[in-house]
Amino acid sequence: MKEINVGLCGLGTVGTGVVKILKDHQEEIKYKLGCEIVVKKVLVSDINKQRDVEIDPSWLTTDPDQLVNNKDIDVIIEVMGGIENTNILLEQALRNKKHIVTANKDLMAVHGQKLLKLAKNNNCDIYYDASVAGGIPILRTLSDGLASDRIQKIMGIVNGTTNYILTKMTDEKLAFEKVLKEAQELGFAEADPTSDVEGLDAARKMTLLANLAFKMEISLDDVVVSGISDITQEDISFASSLGYTIKLIGIASISNGKVEVSVEPTLLPQDHPLALVKNEYNAVYVYGESVGETMFYGPGAGSLPTATAVVSDLMEVIKNIRLGISGNAYVYPQYKTQLKENKEKYTKYFIRMEVNDEAGTFQEITNIFTAESVSFAKILQLPGSTKETAEIVMVTHKISKQQLLNSLDELKGLSVVSDIISYYRVDGEE
Ligand code: NAP
Ligand code: HSE
Repeated sequence: MKEINVGLCGLGTVGTGVVKILKDHQEEIKYKLGCEIVVKKVLVSDINKQRDVEIDPSWLTTDPDQLVNNKDIDVIIEVMGGIENTNILLEQALRNKKHIVTANKDLMAVHGQKLLKLAKNNNCDIYYDASVAGGIPILRTLSDGLASDRIQKIMGIVNGTTNYILTKMTDEKLAFEKVLKEAQELGFAEADPTSDVEGLDAARKMTLLANLAFKMEISLDDVVVSGISDITQEDISFASSLGYTIKLIGIASISNGKVEVSVEPTLLPQDHPLALVKNEYNAVYVYGESVGETMFYGPGAGSLPTATAVVSDLMEVIKNIRLGISGNAYVYPQYKTQLKENKEKYTKYFIRMEVNDEAGTFQEITNIFTAESVSFAKILQLPGSTKETAEIVMVTHKISKQQLLNSLDELKGLSVVSDIISYYRVDGEE
């Protein structure tokens, strides 16, 4: 095998990085693989656009058939984004026995299982490490490096935009809208930043991580998601006075064969390794039954970091072709999907409420928590928004989500409680 021919779908941020790495690291890549990688065609939407990288103009096309139905192309690299049309294109490529490398978490979170099975049936590979946490080789770590262990919990900062926003809101006391604008200008945010801010981008990545870690089919609909747009400076400041930092954390955990996957603002102890991950950086903390605690840190986005993951995946595809083992990387789910109910999801919670500042208020509140068997690790009382009110900030011991929801429902019915201001998960203290 002297050369492998590649069709590149997309020549934007990531695609440009792919072309640069293939050129700049050409010698090392060729030495490791023993063959040359040749880009044959590049799919773009506008052939006349100015490009940041030097390419042969004859490579460019707006016609996907020139890639997916091109018998000279062995591997399709998909770095153009999109879900439904891209799925149709990749299905066609797989039927034509082309291997695939993609950075597309949106596509893989929705159609990944179907595409992986179609690939296997056609003796093809799909690698998609760049789709989760950009330059951090986390999917490969789960499927190879930690293959012998049983993963019990993953906690990830897998969205750079929200981590950037929360870092600036915490360290520089900046307003949410101002920092979101900065993140957009710096190019981390998605075209529609709602999917970053409301947690959908992180949920897609957690779906991919959970599928691999727990060897069961977990769909995007199984992930409980809430974003960061309601977090206020007061939340950050009260969390800080109790020794916590607020981060948008994706959590996937398993116990007794049942899984919980969520993305939500979470309070972590200020010295937890994930609390120390700042700005647009990503990190994934993995707890394995035998290995114990591990953490993987790095750039979650950007042209060259993401392209590094894409080209490394391409090299893996090529190694498999050379060894004649293509189509074996994907393993069918080993277990039936079982999701935890709210009564089985245990964690600590931070709760803020505004109450009437009068005798008996505290007793009424504690009666409700006592009836739900909720006990507290930390409590603060401060002046409220008027002179008749007080603000209570508490952190519970571990309780079930059902206990939390029942308690909040009851509290809302109390005349002495004027507002449940906010409540967040607290994790990372075990
Ligand atoms: P991008 O800068 O917007 O580039 C998209 C490229 O695809 C452009 O070259 C565009 O052509 C081409 N394209 C888009 N739709 C097309 C269509 N229908 N037909 C033909 N060409 C089309 O996007 P990106 O930031 O590189 O992201 C690409 C993928 O990587 C996405 O799935 C993204 O989620 C994923 N990803 C990105 C990052 C990151 O840091 N950017 C990190 C991890 C994963 P023109 O150039 O002609 O417009
Ligand atoms: N919008 C994503 C982020 C880009 O902020 O992490 C990388 O997937």
